[in-house]
Parts: sequence; structure tokens; C-alpha cells
Amino acid sequence: MPKQLTSFVCQECGYDSPAYMGKCPECGNWNSFKEIRLGPANSTKATGMSRVSISADQKPQPLREVALKPKNRLTTGFSEIDAVLGGGIVLGSATLVAGDPGIGKSTLLLQLCLSLAKNGKNVLYVSAEESREQVSMRAMRVRSESETKNSTDAKDLMGRQELREKEVDLLLLSMTDTDSIAQAIEETKPDFVVIDSIQTVESQNAGGLSGSVGQVRYASSVFIRTAKTLNIPIMMVGHVTKEGMVAGPMVLSHMVDTVLFLEGEKFTKTRILRSLKNRFGPVDEVGIFIMEGEGMAEVKNPEQIFLSTRQQHVPGTILVVIMEGTRPFLIEIQALAVYSKYPMPKRVASGIDQKRLELLLAVLQKHARLPVETHDIFVNIAGGIKVTDPAVDLGVCLAIYSSIKNKPLDSTVGIAEVGLLGELRKVSYIEKRVREAKKLGFEHVVTAEGFETLTDVLKSFGFSGESQKTWKQEDERHFKLEDGE
Ligand code: TYD
Ligand code: MG
Repeated sequence: MPKQLTSFVCQECGYDSPAYMGKCPECGNWNSFKEIRLGPANSTKATGMSRVSISADQKPQPLREVALKPKNRLTTGFSEIDAVLGGGIVLGSATLVAGDPGIGKSTLLLQLCLSLAKNGKNVLYVSAEESREQVSMRAMRVRSESETKNSTDAKDLMGRQELREKEVDLLLLSMTDTDSIAQAIEETKPDFVVIDSIQTVESQNAGGLSGSVGQVRYASSVFIRTAKTLNIPIMMVGHVTKEGMVAGPMVLSHMVDTVLFLEGEKFTKTRILRSLKNRFGPVDEVGIFIMEGEGMAEVKNPEQIFLSTRQQHVPGTILVVIMEGTRPFLIEIQALAVYSKYPMPKRVASGIDQKRLELLLAVLQKHARLPVETHDIFVNIAGGIKVTDPAVDLGVCLAIYSSIKNKPLDSTVGIAEVGLLGELRKVSYIEKRVREAKKLGFEHVVTAEGFETLTDVLKSFGFSGESQKTWKQEDERHFKLEDGE
């Protein structure tokens, strides 16, 4: 009788140990180890290695003799999703679609399934969270309301018009047992499978409750094997919160071919689908959607959501062009500066990093001589997105300047990073960004190519420093005051 091999795996971080441990040396959690069965050992005494028979196509082969087959892809019918995947879903690939709970993963994937089904594909949607009735109701919601609503030119209501014209169908399965799901896939042999979600399926062959690292790993290895052997693309949903990137389904990001992340703020409608890993295409590519009452809508011209309510001739707003992957986006930065009575004025940043804002304010105070120390300052990125691109620095500075000086900087676009010495730094893809701004009719673009320092830019708007003294004189005055003179 072969010996049963077991291993102890931390349910928080996936740390593997041959013996039980009270505290995980990797993540420091207590009582997180569970025993996992690894299957019987079938090693031979002589080598200590397991012996399996190898078929001809599993033997090592010279690189030159490997026949190159173009990867076959399924086009989804949604240009945004196809672009993120690098041209469609690769046959036999395993994809993890991760995101916060309630962000719209099930909705997006159901729409994707409906669109593929419309193109005559045999699609299987496995829900381990909802009953068939619930999934069907969701499909009706996505489907039926489209019949009354007209598509606006800003966005294409994904797949819905087509659904109206042609009755489509897909296979639903509501099941939580990993092995039975794999068997059902084998029996039905669909063209595309969605498993919603990887945390709610479980198997007797793995240890722990559903959602534990052991179960998630087991389930994904079963589904990945199914995808590869049957050449069926499988998408698995995983609930991942931003704080929980390390634990949970992200432990399997190295096992799957592609990791897509659906992100957005719960209370805004914008959703961004981002590829974090892609064995068959680009990473950092994004697709933009709006969550509507009747499902997700693709956004082909993102400036329409980021700029739509923009007012003319109001101080405190400026445009910037950020890059998301290889795509430029024109977004609006708003700033509000009000005179503050407090010795520690407020600084509130939403959409950009608070520390970055404080740094830029220090630069504005020291080098541009703007009286920021007497103002409460609020900065917001319109449209509810988060920006980490350093190219927004100049835009943030100009928006604050515009608010403090009550000077509208209408249709000015600022694209540059600002250094600690007040210098403007060049940013990547500058031609692409400038082209995007001009394409949308904004001719006045301020970049590091045209100006050396932030002060030069402000001078071009007619501002030459609040105080006529140089900062050196000002600093000397401060030191004198401290010395009691
Ligand atoms: P869901 O796809 O269930 O999220 P996830 O699978 O990521 O947990 O979406 C849940 C939210 O989306 C819920 O708050 C309701 C909203 N929603 C819409 O706004 N429009 C729709 O058409 C649907 C189906 C859901
Ligand atoms: Mg869901």
C-alpha cells in the first residue's frame, strides 16, 4: 500500500510545511495551518523519483523542430475586452477575473457569455454562488431592459441590441463540487466556460473549507488541467479586495495564463478592466466600462465620461493626459483653494496620492512663491478614478494656481512631472499624449519640452511670484525671526 503524502499549508498565505506549525513563519498568523492530502506516493525506491510513462510528444524536442501553430482566439464581440486580452480569448487558456465583491464581475462575464452564445458558441456558465434562477433573472435584466433603452452614441450597450434580434441561449449550472463541475465540462464540451467563483467551489479531495488556500489551489489546478486537455478557455472569478491582494485567489495568479482585474469605486459607475498578467498579450492594457442599471456598457471615448460635465471659464480646473497601458486618456483635475484661518490648513486629495499633493504644495510655496500655506486645498480627479501617473503633477499645480488666483485656465492641458527643485520633467509617450489632446481640440498644451520650470509656466500666465523678494531673502528673514532679531 503506497504511503499517503500530506503537507501542512497556511490558509492565509499558502506557506507549505511538512509539519504542523502553530504560527506561520511567512505571514505571522496563528493556527492557520491545515493538513492537505497530496495523493499516494508512487516513488520507486532506486531514484526516489516518481515513474510515469512518457509519450512521444512529451519527450524533449529541439527548438528548431517545434511546429508553430498560431494561437486560435475567440473574439468576444466586445472590443474593450478583446483589446485587454490582446485580441480575444485564447483557446485552452485559463483566466482569473479578480475584483472587489459587488464590483460587477458576474454581470460582465454573463454579458460576455451571452455575446459569445449569440455568435453560435456553446457556452457554459457555472455559478457556485447563485441559483440558476438568479443567474437567469440577471440575464433577463441585462437582456430585457435593453429592449426599451436606446443606445447613446457615447457608449455601445454591450451585446444587447443583438440579443433583441436573435434569441440566444447558454447552459447554466449551479453547483459547488469542483470535481463534478470538471466532469460536467468534460461531458458537455462547451466552447467557453465561466466558473463563478473559485472561492465558493469545494472538493473532498482538498482540505479546508471553501475559499481556503487549499481548496482554491485544488479547484484551479483541476480547472486549468481541464482547460488545457480539452482546449476550452475557462474564466474563473475571484473576489479580491485591495487589502487582500496576497492571500485569497491571488495565490493562483502564477498558475493561470491571464489575470484580469476589474476595478472601480463602489459608488461611481466607472469600471476599469486591467490585465495584470497575460501570457498571450500585452499587460497594463485597459478596457473602460460604465455600470448601468441594465449591465455594463463599453465606453469607447473615455473623455465623454471624464469631461462631460465640464464648465467653461471657471477657475480651478485643468486638463491632463494620462496613460493607461498604451492608451492616452484626457482627464480633468479640479482644485479648490480657500483662505484658511487655521495654522495647519487642510489638504484633501481624492484620486491622487495625498503625499504627492503635499509635496507639490511645498514646491508651489517654495519655488513658485504661491501663498499655499494660508489656504485650505482640495484636489479631485473628475470621474472617480485613481491616478498614479506622475504626468499629472503639472496639472495639479496649475489647477491649484488657477483656484488661488481665481484665474480660469480654460482648455489648457498640462503634461509633465514636477521635481523637488520646481523643474519640469519629461514623461513617457509625450507625442501620443499631445496628439490625443490636440485631437480633442485642445491646442494649448504645456509640456516639459516647452518650459524648464514650473515658475516659467506660471510666468507665461502672467504670474511672477507673490512676493518680490527671492526665496533666499525670505528664508533669511525666517532665520532672523527665530534668532529673536
Ligand atoms: P455583480 O456582477 O453581482 O458583482 P460581483 O459578481 O463582482 O460580486 O454586480 C453587483 C452590483 O452591480 C450590484 O450592486 C447591482 C449592480 N448591477 C447593476 O448596477 N446593473 C446590472 O445590470 C446588474 C446585473 C447589477
Ligand atoms: Mg458575483
